[in-house]
Amino acid sequence: MLSSASTNILTVCPSLVSTIAASQSGPATGWEAKALEFFKEQLKEDVQATVPSLNDVPLHYLKPNSLVKFRCLVQDMFDPEFYMGVYETVDPSTNAKMLHCGKYRDVAECGVDFNSRNIVTAERQTFYCVPIPGENQWVKERYAGASQARQLPSTSYVPSRQKRSYEEDEDMDVQPQKQREGHSASQSPTEPSSDCKRQETEAPSSQAATSSHLDLNFPLPGEKGPSCLVKVYENWDGFKLNDTLEVYGILSVSPALSALVDEKDDLIDPTECMETAEEQRVRSPPASLVPRLHVLYAKPLSHNNPLLPCTRLEDNGAFLSSTLSEMAAVREELLSYFTHVCLGDALAAEYLILHLISTVYARRDVLPLGKFTLNLSGCPTAPPYAERLYQIIQQLVPSSHYLGMSLQNMNQLRLVPKKDYIANRLTSGTLQLSQNTSLFLDETQLEQGQLDTTGVRNVTAMGNLISWQKVDYDFNYHQMEFPCNINVLVASEGRSLLPSDCHIHLQPQVSSSHVEEYIRSVHVHPQVSSQLNKFRVYLGVARLLDYSISDDVTKSVEEDFVEMRKDDPQGVSAEDLHRLLVVARLLSLSLGHTSLSRDSWLRAKHIETLRRSRIEQHKSVNGNEP
Ligand SMILES: *[C@@H]1O[C@H](CO)[C@@H](O)[C@H](O)[C@H]1NC(C)=O
Ligand SMILES: *[C@@H]1O[C@H](CO)[C@@H](O)[C@H](O)[C@H]1NC(C)=O
Ligand SMILES: *[C@@H]1O[C@H](CO)[C@@H](O)[C@H](O)[C@H]1NC(C)=O
Ligand SMILES: *[C@@H]1O[C@H](CO)[C@@H](O)[C@H](O)[C@H]1NC(C)=O
Repeated sequence: MLSSASTNILTVCPSLVSTIAASQSGPATGWEAKALEFFKEQLKEDVQATVPSLNDVPLHYLKPNSLVKFRCLVQDMFDPEFYMGVYETVDPSTNAKMLHCGKYRDVAECGVDFNSRNIVTAERQTFYCVPIPGENQWVKERYAGASQARQLPSTSYVPSRQKRSYEEDEDMDVQPQKQREGHSASQSPTEPSSDCKRQETEAPSSQAATSSHLDLNFPLPGEKGPSCLVKVYENWDGFKLNDTLEVYGILSVSPALSALVDEKDDLIDPTECMETAEEQRVRSPPASLVPRLHVLYAKPLSHNNPLLPCTRLEDNGAFLSSTLSEMAAVREELLSYFTHVCLGDALAAEYLILHLISTVYARRDVLPLGKFTLNLSGCPTAPPYAERLYQIIQQLVPSSHYLGMSLQNMNQLRLVPKKDYIANRLTSGTLQLSQNTSLFLDETQLEQGQLDTTGVRNVTAMGNLISWQKVDYDFNYHQMEFPCNINVLVASEGRSLLPSDCHIHLQPQVSSSHVEEYIRSVHVHPQVSSQLNKFRVYLGVARLLDYSISDDVTKSVEEDFVEMRKDDPQGVSAEDLHRLLVVARLLSLSLGHTSLSRDSWLRAKHIETLRRSRIEQHKSVNGNEP
């Protein structure tokens, strides 16, 4: 029923337009507010699954002007654009006038009367959105599998635009003629409106070939999936750069959108045009490559784990209590699995769990609280251990990225997003990741050699990410600081260029000649995916839990700390206390406890002692190390 509703909106719209006051613009009122309310109501969870997703259905299978959804990251924000919210057409043969609604579409009907007093200019905001960077395969598969859209006997899944002839395209309710995109309002009345002919001669597929060189500006190399120009009609101040969203909206892929780019030069007096050619290219990419999505409803994602309920945990009492009751048991299983993965080292496995559930939960001034960057040193290099470890983590977390810290990468990769003033866009970089992505830095790839100056700056940028959980975006004349929440794991062989919150030296219980065979035996079998799913839920829930320390426990922790300082004034710093508190927090959460108990505190102290004495041992064997 929803799909029929969605195709109706465009045809319903014009007939309703005449009932609204011509001056209406801005926030939705009247019939429109009701329509939006209807969609929001319909899009409560159960119906969401029936809406086809741009993430898993190829674009040419989706019906133009139908309702689709898109799971994405806001990569860039463009300037607001003006469009004709309401306009009037005149039929040349009968002189009949008709009012139309320009919302939720890019292309107006033929025969716009630009002198009409009924034209209402309105404003909308465009965001450039990309699929969530580093989203892992299991997440994609799970979402696609849960979608009921495929089973619907809907025309949406007939490859529509490939097969349909262009004549048929004309029958659609939106005719390609003219689009407002990127134009300022003052220019609109000057445009001629007589080139329906020219558009018809344009084959819809003709842009695909010419545009293959277009840089889609994905943060990570090798990413796939469409990027999208998401047009927002209300409350756009609520969106932030890097937000992860699921947007529901009307898909617009009119071939006329790209045709306009070539034509613009003829249409507009160049002195009136504020955009550079480069900017036009970026703002108006071919719709076959970068579809437009006119938003009806946008939902911020508080996580991207398809195994967890999409509403807040607190609102899912049954799920939460059953998960919590199993936390300790699942932890045991995960610990034994990780011990295997860590070549028999149970302590390293313990810290790996703590690391994977860590998150920045607050900031005190500039200091991010709760982050737990782990420096895992002593990783064998002969069989490449770090890569194997990454593959295992990839199976467990929703989004992750592996960065081999070779000299070449450090000297050549663009890590930090940079403003390109000519194209007027934010060129993405590897560090433009969504919140809670696991970033795996493989320092075992670092060979002897020189970092050049950009390399040094890139390493510095990485250090800032780890220490302050921020990335300074490069705006040429200044830097803009963006706070972030990225889980960084550093795998190193010996020395590390990077800071970290916690250093654990791997102690393989496997002789070096057997490491290769042993690593190969740590398979993640697809058939044990029910166990994997348990781990995925476990890690996801542990990082979403609230946590507190009661006044009593705070007091006893303080007393304890004073005692520790008495015993060893040099050895116990404020930094150590801070780390101990983070370890205690993560340890509690890993057991499903939402407040610190005396037991967990003691256990945290215990594993910290083990870890530190291991570093001491290692130092005395290997000479001076910081
Ligand atoms: C990131 O994790 C924190 C804590 O678990 C959570 O509150 C936040 O919503 C998450 N954000 C995203 C985009 O996953
Ligand atoms: C990192 O390296 C790239 C490529 O050399 C360079 O363009 C970029 O400016 C560097 N990043 C920083 C933060 O300097
Ligand atoms: C977006 O993510 C990037 C990469 O982690 C980060 O540098 C930036 O601060 C984030 N921006 C916001 C607004 O969260
Ligand atoms: C990370 O591990 C390496 C290798 O042992 C060590 O040299 C470096 O100091 C460690 N960094 C921190 C901050 O713990």
